[in-house]
Order: sequence, then structure tokens, then C-alpha cells
Amino acid sequence: MIKAVRGTRDLLPPDTALWNFVEAAVRDVFRAYNFQEIRTPIFEETALFARGVGEETDIVAKEMYTWEDRGRAASEKGQSLTLRPEATAGIVRAYIEHKLWDRGLNKLYLLGPMFRRERPQKGRYRQFYQIDAEIIGPSSAGSESPARDAEILEMLATLLDRLGITDWSLQLNSVGCADDRAKFSEALRQALEPVKDKMCADCQRRAVTNPLRVFDCKVPEDQPIIEKLPRISQFLDEGCRTHFEAVQAILTKVGVPFSVNDRLVRGLDYYTRTAFEFTHGALGAQNAILGGGRYDGLSEALGGPAAPGIGFAIGQDRLVMSLQEKASAESVRAKPDVYVAPMAGMNGDAARLARELRRLGLVVELGDDSFRLKKSFEAATKVGAKYILIVGENEVKADAFALKDLATGDQVTVPRAELATRIRS
Ligand code: HAM
Repeated sequence: MIKAVRGTRDLLPPDTALWNFVEAAVRDVFRAYNFQEIRTPIFEETALFARGVGEETDIVAKEMYTWEDRGRAASEKGQSLTLRPEATAGIVRAYIEHKLWDRGLNKLYLLGPMFRRERPQKGRYRQFYQIDAEIIGPSSAGSESPARDAEILEMLATLLDRLGITDWSLQLNSVGCADDRAKFSEALRQALEPVKDKMCADCQRRAVTNPLRVFDCKVPEDQPIIEKLPRISQFLDEGCRTHFEAVQAILTKVGVPFSVNDRLVRGLDYYTRTAFEFTHGALGAQNAILGGGRYDGLSEALGGPAAPGIGFAIGQDRLVMSLQEKASAESVRAKPDVYVAPMAGMNGDAARLARELRRLGLVVELGDDSFRLKKSFEAATKVGAKYILIVGENEVKADAFALKDLATGDQVTVPRAELATRIRS
């Protein structure tokens, strides 16, 4: 038997109802902040992620699904392509390619699958889904302002509250600007020099190539060493410090709780200044429900104009998991309002009636005239219909139908014209 590939999975009903419930709330909340949807391709040139996310990151170094496409002619070398491991690089590429700055400050969101070749476990998949949002634009449009950082964070708090997720916590840090990071990197390199040989192979490499990435290390034995390393907070320049203070001041003013965590550096290279994660207790080891931050130099790194930006991506798989702890998928599942049960030879009339009711906005499950009445009742109960509606020759002649409430057992005869109102009430 062929099964779904390791790290991928089927999303089945009734869980898909929960996914749709989340997506509807997301679209609704994002709309209130004037975000608009963008959809980018699922694969891009490999160079986009190498340059955007960073060669030394775990994502680019180990986790991407990359292949060489066939060239147009047999002799021609093909392009290197990659399934998107995240959305930000593609969105910034589209921003540059379509000169989106001409349309003012851009607030864009994207929903869709991402691909990383990570070791699968609960809450970690090789195909997973992100809800990503970005604010990007020229400085003249105010895209650098701490007000944008606070707006994004407040929107996230609003969304989680709206979904009924209460026990989240927001970890906030500033990773500074390029100059701060250069100084920090140098200090880290020096601090790592005498201890790096005691660390894991990845850290030994990172200590030389990109010391900041040492903070991504999950190896337990390395943690006491990492704990003692310098922190970025000691290297922030005046501009970054006041920016970070302003973000915190607005958050306090609007009542979004947070805690500063100066170990938080995030696993992607494009971040500058504000970096953040929301965690959720119920998720266990993979407890980051979402992450994001500022990336003021990314557009330029990808060959575009200066365009400071900030954004985040929610792991939708994890968001749905934390919802499942509370609401069961059953509770948001749309059950049929009515099961239309045709008697022998009545499939046509039943289809006509179902068509009328569906056009009036009811959710209708349609049976089959080969079913005996008992079987129709069983089928109606199984799909969770509220009513069963019997369509027989006499009913059609009288233009009035037997409608039975499946919970109470009450049965009434209702004229065709009143059916929809009756079922809805
Ligand atoms: P990220 O932290 O790599 O950031 O991913 C964001 C979220 O995606 C994580 O917090 C997690 O919930 C979810 N996620 C990541 N990998 C997996 C996986 N293998 N399985 C399930 N869920 C996963 C980014 O991707 C940035 N592009 C976010 C961003 C947008 N920064 C600025 N704008």
C-alpha cells in the first residue's frame, strides 16, 4: 500500500473545518488592519533562499528540498530550484519584481504550505502550513517606524484572543542593525575561541563562519557554554536601543503583555532590530506557535531598493493543535440542516427540492430512492442532520412534506413554500 510520505499528512474532516475556521478568522482580523492577500509560487530559484534566508542557517544548509530542473535543450544545464521553506523571501522578491512600492506601504499576507526536511515529530512536519504577514515599503512611508512593529504584535495578540487561545506568551528581543551584529559576531567569535572545541560539530563550524547561529543549537551539553556567551543587548547602538524601547512603550500602552528575552536571535539571517516569538504551553517541545521580526536590509540584499519591513509566520499546524486542546473539531463543523430522503422512484423530485433549499442557503444532504426509510434515517443520523425530510408521491402531489426533527422525534407536515423558514427556525 502506498502511504503519505514521511513528514507529510492528510488533513481530514472534521479537522479541516477547524482549519477553515482559523483561516476565516485570520482573513477577518487581517482585513481590519488593511492587509491584502498575495500568493507566490511554491518553488523559486534556490539563490533566493540562499541569499535571503542565509547560507549558514539550518534551513538553507540542511533542510531545503532542492533539485536541478531539466534544461530546455538536453545539453543545457538546468536551473537549481527549491520548494519554498518560508514565505518572506518570495514575498520580498515579488515586491521588487512588481515594484509594489508604487502602490504605497504594502501590507501583505500569504497562506500556504512550506517545505523543510526536518526530523518529523509532533508539531513538526516536512510539509507544514504558514500564515504569513509582512509590512514592507520605503522609509518615506514609515515602514521603519516602531509603530509598525507594535501594530503587527498587537494584531497577533488580537488574532490569538479571537481564536480563544489565551495561554500564549510573547518573547521579544532586538537583534540590532548590521553594525551591531558585526560587533556582536566578533565578540562571540572571541568568546567561542577557547571553548568551541568542547561543542558539537555544528557549533564548531558556526563559531568560525557565523557565530550568531550558535544560539540555534539544541544540543543539551552545549547549553551551559551558550548561556555564558555575550548577549546582543550589550551591543545595540543608540538608534536600535530607542527603536526597541519605543516598540515596548506602545505595547505597554495598548496592553499587550511581553517579556524581553535577549537570547532570542531566530534561525534566519535577515533579521534586524525587533525579533519575536509567541509560544504556547500546550504544544510541548515544538512550542513556538509563530515567529517573526524586522528585516530592514532584505530587499537590498535581493537586489531591490531600500525597503524596511517586518512580518511574522504562524505555524498553522501548531495553531490548530493548540485549538484542538480546547474546541473539538466537531464543534465548528457545519452539520447538514436537513437530510432529504426520497421514497422509491422519487430521486428527481427530491433533487429538485434539494436544489431549492440549497439555493435558499441551507446545507442539504441528499439520499437515494433505493434506500428504505429505515436506512435513510440511519444515514441522516450518521451525517448529523438536524431534520429529515421525506419526499414521496403523496407529498409531491400535496406540495407539503413530512419534516422530522431528529433530536426530538417531532414530526410536522410543512408546505413547500414554508420549508426553508421552518428548518432554519
Ligand atoms: P520560522 O520561525 O522559521 O520563521 O517559522 C515560523 C513558524 O512556522 C514557527 O514558529 C513554527 O510555528 C512554524 N514552523 C516552522 N517549521 C515548521 C515545521 N517543520 N513544522 C511545523 N511548523 C513549523 C519564518 O519562517 C519567517 N519567514 C517568519 C517571518 C515572516 N519573519 C518575518 N516575516
